[in-house]
Amino acid sequence: MVVARARVVVLASGGGTNLQALIDASSNAEYPAAVVAVGSDRRRSGALDRASAADIPTFVTALEDYADRATWDAALAEATGSHQPDLVVLAGFMRLVGPAFLERFPNRVINTHPALSPAFPGMHGPRDALAHGVKITGCTIFVVDGGVDTGPIVAQASVPILDDDDEASLHERIKVRERELLVQTVAELATDTYRIEGRKVVRP
Ligand code: GRF
Repeated sequence: MVVARARVVVLASGGGTNLQALIDASSNAEYPAAVVAVGSDRRRSGALDRASAADIPTFVTALEDYADRATWDAALAEATGSHQPDLVVLAGFMRLVGPAFLERFPNRVINTHPALSPAFPGMHGPRDALAHGVKITGCTIFVVDGGVDTGPIVAQASVPILDDDDEASLHERIKVRERELLVQTVAELATDTYRIEGRKVVRP
C-alpha cells in the first residue's frame, strides 16, 4: 500500500539548518512527511541553496516588492498555497505572517523558537535567556497565531545554560535539540490528527 506523505512547505530566511534536518529526514521514504517547496522573504539565503541542492522548488516573496504588508502577506499565502501544503513550517522565518496567511492555513502553520515559551519571545531568545541568568532554556514548537511566539505549544525541549556560554554557543546547542524536536514533531503532526482547545494542542 502506498501511503501519501504529508506535504510540507517550509519558509525560512537564514542558514536553513532546521530545513536541512527536515530534508534529510524526508529522504527516508518511511518518514511520514516530505518537503515539497521552500519559500523565503530573502532573495538569497542558505535555506534556498539547501532546497535547490535537494531539487526542491523554491519561491521568494520579498516584503520590499509589495506596496504594503497586507499585500505581501496575501502574496505569501498564495505562493505557499500553490504547493498545496498539509503543514507549513516556519523554520527561522524572520517575518511575522499576517491574517490572510493564517486564514488560508488554519492551525496548520507551526514555528520553532529558540527559548522555552512563554519566556523570551522575539528575535533574541538565547541572548535574552543569558541576560536574565536562567539556568535552563530550550526550544518551543508552536502553532502560529497572530502574536509574537505566543501560539499554542506543540512540543518543547530543555537545554541547560553553561557558565561559559555566550549567545552563539548557547544558540548552537539549542539548535541541535531544535532540529531533532522539529523532525520528530513534524512526523507526529503528519501522522496524528490534532486539535486546538484554548491554549492546548490536543493529540490522540
Ligand atoms: C532557529 O534557532 C530558529 O528557532 C530561529 O532562528 C534559527 C534558524 O536557524 N528563529 P536555521 O536557519 O534553521 O539554521
